[in-house]
Amino acid sequence: MYGFNYYTPTKVVFGKNTEAKAAELIREFGGKKVLIHYGGGSVVRSGLLKRVTDTLDEAGIPYVTLGGAVPNPRLSLVYEGIDLCRKEGVDFLLAVGGGSAIDSAKAIGYGVANEGDVWDFYDYRRKATGCLPLGVILTIAATGSEMSDSSVITKEEGLVKRGYNSDYCRPKFAIMNPELTMTLPDYQTACGCTDIMMHTMERYFTSGGNMEITDSMAESLLRTVMTNAEILVRDPKNYEARAEVMWAGSLSHNGLTGCGNDGGDWMTHKLEHELGGLYDVAHGAGLAAIWGSWARYVYKDCLPRFKRFALNVMGVAPAGSDEETALKGIEALEDFFRRIHMPTNLRELGVSATEEDLHTMAHKCAVGVNGAKGSAKLLREADMYAIFKASM
Ligand code: NZQ
Ligand code: ZN
Repeated sequence: MYGFNYYTPTKVVFGKNTEAKAAELIREFGGKKVLIHYGGGSVVRSGLLKRVTDTLDEAGIPYVTLGGAVPNPRLSLVYEGIDLCRKEGVDFLLAVGGGSAIDSAKAIGYGVANEGDVWDFYDYRRKATGCLPLGVILTIAATGSEMSDSSVITKEEGLVKRGYNSDYCRPKFAIMNPELTMTLPDYQTACGCTDIMMHTMERYFTSGGNMEITDSMAESLLRTVMTNAEILVRDPKNYEARAEVMWAGSLSHNGLTGCGNDGGDWMTHKLEHELGGLYDVAHGAGLAAIWGSWARYVYKDCLPRFKRFALNVMGVAPAGSDEETALKGIEALEDFFRRIHMPTNLRELGVSATEEDLHTMAHKCAVGVNGAKGSAKLLREADMYAIFKASM
């Protein structure tokens, strides 16, 4: 077991109609002029944006709006947001939407609070020294960005998708009304459930420093998400299931399921970020498509964890050997992905990559992780290529 810092400063306001508290919360955290940032328009169509702006109007809080954050949010819109905030004297950001709107808002926050090019942080050239304060109204349970220290942005030039982590961008508050997720397309609900599971699994599949309390919470979280993801396939308007998944999303990525271990593996995410950057696929679907190939490539180097996962999470019966048990667990998770209509390889994801694409992704991935990464198994460029190849 390792020592750890657990820092989750976000005030969570959870339940029906909680979006009505937006103005009150902005005030509580000192916001005087707000940029409301959102995505491609689902919050306009659902009426949520109007309800939020009405609340701010009533409270006399001035604001400007900026929509257009796309899945795999783009750097050009971040620059636009930074200029807008500077011009309008914005001192508080309110992201209304999913991980893309939230991450884009975080990047805008870094850009306003720091001199120079905000991409430098995502390119690991320097570290931010602050971020504008940020609140969130969450509309999809998925990334955990509503409590996380992470922001993932795609630079159009070269299609480079990179994440930057720092505590400065952890939201001040997160409004979570599970009802807001009921307008999601089924595919996005399933993508979100997959991403939530992956944030826990990235931390679970480690070769170092595990803690029983953390493992038990992680396993419970995974089982809960699987149960409720299947309920949502049959009954998308089920409030209880929406609520279970939504809270799991935050807990899976606020650091809780990493306490005591070595920080996790994270290679499934790094490989997916290359798919997202090059093919613009939905993040959760990309993770599902690559996970099985990653797992089969690394499981022998992290056998006790894969065995435990098979028995405690996937509920498989022990097989003749630990390796067989581990493989049964991997197969069981892929079966689950199929049941919630997620892809289990690149073909099912709709990606037909050329040899050159596979090499390009492996190379960019290796550069992005400074040569090698992984805790279940340390992976280098040749390993990354082999996993992409196997996922065809
Ligand atoms: O853009 P709009 O019109 O809002 O539509 C979105 C988008 O098309 C739609 N949607 C969201 N809420 C909805 C809704 N449609 C109907 N009703 C609703 N209530 O769903 C689509 C996906 O939204 P998006 O915000 O892109 O999804 P998600 O939350 O999965 O975010 C994905 C991005 O976050 C990054 C991913 O890489 C990807 O770029 N990640 C961020 C992390 C973090 N900051 O901690 C960690 C993750 O591992 C991840 O990398
Ligand atoms: Zn993720």
